[in-house]
Amino acid sequence: MNTIDTILQMKDLTIDIKIDEGTLNVVRGVQLDIKRNETLGLVGESGCGKSLTSKSILGINNKKCNSKGEILFQLNPEKSVDMLKLNPNGKAIKKIRGKEISMIFQEPLVAFSPLYTIGNQINECTRLHVTKDKVKSKALSIEMMEKVGIANASKRYDQYPHEFSGGMLQRAMIAMSLVSGPKLLIADEPTTALDVTIQAQILDLMNNLKKEMGMSILFITHDLGTVAKMCDRVAVMYLGKIVELAPVRSLYKTPLHPYTNGLLGSVHRIGTSREKRLYSIEGTVPLALNLPKGCGFYDRCPKKIKGICNQKQPELREKSEGHFVACFACEHEEAKHE
Ligand SMILES: Nc1ncnc2c1ncn2[C@@H]1O[C@H](COP(=O)(O)OP(=O)(O)O)[C@@H](O)[C@H]1O
Ligand SMILES: [Mg+2]
Repeated sequence: MNTIDTILQMKDLTIDIKIDEGTLNVVRGVQLDIKRNETLGLVGESGCGKSLTSKSILGINNKKCNSKGEILFQLNPEKSVDMLKLNPNGKAIKKIRGKEISMIFQEPLVAFSPLYTIGNQINECTRLHVTKDKVKSKALSIEMMEKVGIANASKRYDQYPHEFSGGMLQRAMIAMSLVSGPKLLIADEPTTALDVTIQAQILDLMNNLKKEMGMSILFITHDLGTVAKMCDRVAVMYLGKIVELAPVRSLYKTPLHPYTNGLLGSVHRIGTSREKRLYSIEGTVPLALNLPKGCGFYDRCPKKIKGICNQKQPELREKSEGHFVACFACEHEEAKHE
């Protein structure tokens, strides 16, 4: 692995879940790297496998999930560890979780216990990962609360989660996840549950903290609108596979995969006709059980080529610098233009 550029590398990650009816192939051969100091977006409709992919980095998926492949995390310039090989309850992973790699969720109440004050819970992370010195640790915790824009932080330190608004709780969760100075932050739909104005504030806050603290972010969302604001590169996921990967500008300017085009069509754009704005992708994501041998998007695809797209799985291919797509129809079109 290129130690200068890459902080995390997923190699052929697959996740299967056994259910009564058979085996769900929810993540299917994901190859993805996250570079130092970049924000990588992971985008796709609900149910496509984004959360399972990201939780497998930290070994916090449900026991029913069987992950295979490699997830190499660059601990320091000399050493990388395969996160999938670590015991999910062992010491080694606990040293990485919350310290080197942190995660924030859509619902901040998941991260906080109602029984303890916000300050106590943030401070627990500070004590565990930064300093055992009680006075220093509390001061650092309060400083971090201020940094994420919680006014009167020293007073609010002693308040309980129910005394915080949704937006403020989200800020507190960000404070808790960043107090250890992680190298990678996984943000799983961090603003989906918030009002639009608060959403914008939280996104700005994350961008500013990223610049100030220097870290990489894996930013998960179903909303391509927020991606433009946050990300350097974007990976589009469909039915457990990455179908397109590109620098953010390139993806918006020349989206290649019909699924990406569909997602972009559903983003509200100022200046487009009402009809166009309301375009949506027909159909729904199928269940990852007994998947067909061809492309997962076949049934919903406006460009499908019968006899090709339903026969084989398309692999990611580089079309222009850093812009990859897995689609036979795209290749077919390109061949026609040549
Ligand atoms: N514990 C589980 N048991 C059975 N199916 C699950 C479980 N967790 C997730 N799934 C299924 O795996 C798929 C991917 O889930 P997830 O990664 O949460 O999707 P996303 O985050 O993209 O919305 C979904 O279809 C979901 O129903
Ligand atoms: Mg999810």
